[in-house]
Amino acid sequence: MTVMEAWDRARAENLVAREIVPWAERELGFQATPTQAEALKAVVSHPNTVIRSCNGWGKSAIAAIRILHWLATNRPAKVIATAKTHRQVNNQLWAEVRRWGQAFADRRGWELSPRTANLKTQDPQTFGLGFATDSTARLEGFHSPNLLVVVDEAREVPEEIYQGVDRLQPVSRLYISTPGSPRGRFYDCFHSSNWHAIHIDAEALNLEEERVSPTWVRDQLETYGQTSPFYAQSVKGEFSEVLESPYFNPSHVESSFTIGEIPVLEGDLWLSIDWGERHDYTALVEGRGTVVTRVDTMQADYMSVIAEVAARNRARPYSWIVADEGEGIGQISRMRELGLPVEGRRWTRERKLEDLSSLKLALESGTIRFAPMPSQEPDRTWAREQLLAYQRIPTPSGDSKFSAPPGQHDDIVTALAIAYGKLQGRSRYGVSIQRLRR
Ligand SMILES: Nc1ncnc2c1ncn2[C@@H]1O[C@H](COP(=O)(O)OP(=O)(O)OP(=O)(O)O)[C@@H](O)[C@H]1O
Ligand SMILES: [Mg+2]
Repeated sequence: MTVMEAWDRARAENLVAREIVPWAERELGFQATPTQAEALKAVVSHPNTVIRSCNGWGKSAIAAIRILHWLATNRPAKVIATAKTHRQVNNQLWAEVRRWGQAFADRRGWELSPRTANLKTQDPQTFGLGFATDSTARLEGFHSPNLLVVVDEAREVPEEIYQGVDRLQPVSRLYISTPGSPRGRFYDCFHSSNWHAIHIDAEALNLEEERVSPTWVRDQLETYGQTSPFYAQSVKGEFSEVLESPYFNPSHVESSFTIGEIPVLEGDLWLSIDWGERHDYTALVEGRGTVVTRVDTMQADYMSVIAEVAARNRARPYSWIVADEGEGIGQISRMRELGLPVEGRRWTRERKLEDLSSLKLALESGTIRFAPMPSQEPDRTWAREQLLAYQRIPTPSGDSKFSAPPGQHDDIVTALAIAYGKLQGRSRYGVSIQRLRR
């Protein structure tokens, strides 16, 4: 390359870099906040960028804009996007690709799959594809002169995957995450001169012009306290050692998933529901006796969930249904009108503690079992992950808070706890917990 060519190229690149923000606004309707605009410009100016930030700043959205911009400005061009779980890839990252890219893709005649993390263009050599690292898909055969690899929730992705990414020799990489503990590949990138590093600390943001909600920051402060490692990670975007104190004993959780010791399925068929608020997940956990036979999570409106429950009930009637009542009173009366045998469970603090300890007891005593659910594998995996991640977190006031770590989900744990709380309280339910514990 001559000096002139190099100069032209640098100028063109600089132009593209400055262009991404107005491009996103014009083409995608994405109006970047001030720090998002800075980050987007940096991402296009550096082949390898790592971003660590507080929760809710817009990490997945920024990754999505980068993906769409890459496919729109390079040809041929491939994007491989990954994160640890299917839920993170499909329902978080690719949900942002769909949100900002759907109209754009339609105008260009691109195909953006509503169900899977997939974007096809007319050129078979130009596409975007996302998959979870816990799936069987493999990071091979995606070579392209213009390959971009995006890793969301990068702190959770195992080293083998990063090695797989390196073997692909992408021309550009974007790793983005709320930080975790100070080790691993994502952490290392912040100490390597090959990477352009960005750090977003919610305490240093002007929250009036950013996406992070001041109420959320205040809540986090009150719940965890300023010196808590959770606060450091989720609000300040700092790597920090979290002293894990899992609420459920991991070996009990693991053994409840051990296949091959499933007792004969007998007893009542039941269903437990934890309603997701707005964009959150609704979890449906189904069981017979004390065996969990099916786990589903869905981002759907309440009426669709109720329709699904009613359809299942017609196919195989439930002996009982229990649902959290918090936001769900309207749903519960609707279900009663449909003749479903539903009971609302009000999750006061006391009831929550009771239900959680019933579930803990069921795990300890080996009463609860997860039947193999071949067609439901992702959700079964989530059930296991949520149980393992669930924490007892000391609060500044000296109490304990029981929840998923910040930024993670606990909908399945809640549905399980409600169900086992109810099972514990019943005198007869097919298979008795008391009987099995002996
Ligand atoms: N500039 C923006 N304009 C409008 N909406 C935005 C913007 N940036 C992000 N959002 C929306 O805000 C929400 C949160 O953003 P996003 O999920 O990208 O944050 P995140 O940092 O990935 O959060 P988490 O820490 O939970 O993974 C999403 O619904 C996203 O579409
Ligand atoms: Mg995200």
